[in-house]
Amino acid sequence: MPAIFSRVFMMRLILKKLTYMLIGLTYDLRDEYLKMGFSDIETAEFDREDTISSIETALSELGYFTDRIGHIKNLVSRLYRGDRWDLVFNISEGMFGEGREAQVPALLDAYRIPYVFSGPLVMALTLNKALTKVVVKDAGVATPEHFVVYKKSDIAKVNLPFPLFVKPVAEGTGKGIDPDSVISGRQQLEYKCGELLERYQQPVLVETYLSGREFTAGIVGTGEKARCIGVIEIILKENAEQGVYSYVNKEECEERIIYSLTDQDAVEACSELALKAWKCLRAEDGGRVDIRFDHLGNPHFLEINPLAGMHPEHSDLPILAGLHGIPYLRLMQMIMDSAVRKVKHAAHERFTPDDQFDLQGIVPG
Ligand SMILES: Nc1ncnc2c1ncn2[C@@H]1O[C@H](COP(=O)(O)OP(=O)(O)OP(=O)(O)O)[C@@H](O)[C@H]1O
Ligand SMILES: [Mg+2]
Repeated sequence: MPAIFSRVFMMRLILKKLTYMLIGLTYDLRDEYLKMGFSDIETAEFDREDTISSIETALSELGYFTDRIGHIKNLVSRLYRGDRWDLVFNISEGMFGEGREAQVPALLDAYRIPYVFSGPLVMALTLNKALTKVVVKDAGVATPEHFVVYKKSDIAKVNLPFPLFVKPVAEGTGKGIDPDSVISGRQQLEYKCGELLERYQQPVLVETYLSGREFTAGIVGTGEKARCIGVIEIILKENAEQGVYSYVNKEECEERIIYSLTDQDAVEACSELALKAWKCLRAEDGGRVDIRFDHLGNPHFLEINPLAGMHPEHSDLPILAGLHGIPYLRLMQMIMDSAVRKVKHAAHERFTPDDQFDLQGIVPG
């Protein structure tokens, strides 16, 4: 076989004849980065081997052929070798830079290879929680008042009533979040912002503290086809860190958290807010919106996760789907049904309702 025809090239040719799709998998494997010398906290958002194998198994059960690619540097060398895929299932979070979650989708765009989940614009914007709040607020979505502390001297300029909540502006998985994130006075604000600036080397988002119940909403689909597949309430057990869905509570969720179905009023309020945020940000295929009530019981947008965790038992989106009678395989199918449209439709068409692919009917609600 001539060297220019790689194994993947030939495989794809055969699969095309058989009308099978070859799906590449891009991801950041936590163990791989730990072996490279990165710390537990630096790799906290990365995926476990069993997440990748669960995705792989589900895709093959759905009739797709899969090919593991891994992190962005592997993708670069595979592209350079001439490998191509019909679609890439991308859950790569990236390691460096403000656009780290946007890097793989941007690279795939350059090669005109479609991928599952949102594109670089959404990924880069939503990694920055403060800028995302500005956009959703402009679309009429309620979100707590905020101020961004870029440097120590900005702390004195915070002019919001206490209690406040502080967190790194661009992290996930509860990184930098613990019960001390709830701030009741200026001295504590000074100390905690200083600590976060130092530890995470990025701006600190200061927000009005929401003291009410907490929820997460699962979304599947794109544009007019986006549907809320369910809302769950996050209830902290007695042995959990209180007041926040913190890093530790997330890591030990099996022991510390009750993921619960909730009352219809809360479901309606949260799904309306989540869908509005999802659509205005133009997020694609699937993900989660995190919501918390204020002291009056009004829902507010906290953040959106266009790269939601996909571990079948440990991640919020599959847990939420399961509680709503949607097994992992079905969730994967819904996400793939949405993403496969990208193979056939230009970007501007994906956001319109009138084409042959119709998610209505398979997504409850
Ligand atoms: N303004 C706020 N008021 C009250 N609690 C908040 C506020 N912002 C964040 N929290 C608490 O901190 C938790 C984590 O916040 P957030 O969702 O922004 O972080 P994350 O690390 O990106 O989460 P994820 O794991 O979903 O990516 C929330 O689930 C909530 O419990
Ligand atoms: Mg969150």
